[in-house]
Amino acid sequence: MIIDGKKIAEELRDKIKKDIKELAIDKRPGLTVILIGEHPASQIYVKNKEKFAKEVGINSNVLKFNESISESELKKEINKLNNNSAVHGILVQLPLPEHINQKDIIETINPDKDVDGFHPINVGNLSSGNDAMVPCTPLGCYYMIKKVIKDLSGLNAVVVGRSNINGKPMTQLLLRENCTVTIVHSKTKNIEKICKNADLIIAAVGKAHMIQNDWVKDTAVIIDVGINRVKIDGKNKIVGDVDFQNIKDRVKGVSPVPGGVGPMTIACLLENTMKAFKKISVKNN
Ligand code: GUN
Repeated sequence: MIIDGKKIAEELRDKIKKDIKELAIDKRPGLTVILIGEHPASQIYVKNKEKFAKEVGINSNVLKFNESISESELKKEINKLNNNSAVHGILVQLPLPEHINQKDIIETINPDKDVDGFHPINVGNLSSGNDAMVPCTPLGCYYMIKKVIKDLSGLNAVVVGRSNINGKPMTQLLLRENCTVTIVHSKTKNIEKICKNADLIIAAVGKAHMIQNDWVKDTAVIIDVGINRVKIDGKNKIVGDVDFQNIKDRVKGVSPVPGGVGPMTIACLLENTMKAFKKISVKNN
């Protein structure tokens, strides 16, 4: 079975759109994305985030700054957004230029407006099992998994990659669902053997077709977070971390790239913006 992220994302966006339509006309969730420099992939991601935000009725705004912006200027801009009652979600697109400290920038964002879920308050709340803003990519993966398997309790889940953006928060979400979670990474021995025992694999390493057909059980569900630019027959293509073509007819479920996690990540950003809007509205009343 192919797990159609495009379709699941569309359903989620429709729900958000409906919820926003029910709000008073002068009350709309606001999302501001900060984009620094000319990083080509970031330009595309931010354009898509803005497009879909507008489509569901979120007041979306992109603030673009030159690569040379100083850390203190950027913090000033974030603080303006923290104090702006029309802005409910703030996202600083990563990566940042080298002269800017990513950790300090993330910590400047009001945790209630941190729709990326990267602020230590949100990271801590997620790992403590409290209500938290959950990072969009693992949240999207989680929704896709739940479409295929309702009860994850006791399953062997393997998270490939240990990033703060995906691997670590993904692990927390799966633990919350009573999975037995193994994180494998660049220093792990015998990844293949660990994957062979998995009921669930979430691959986010950035290595084209790393997860091969003979690494996975027939009953496995596999979510592919990878976005790898490769040349196939002289043509530029985007492929995932999973050998999708050879796996898709055999396993219980696998998500494609493109059309899998990508659209889900954006839909979850919109959902997080709505969540921030509701939380801030309740606090202000
Ligand atoms: N760059 C790549 N992925 C992400 C993401 O999820 N959030 C932000 N802010 N930047 C990114």
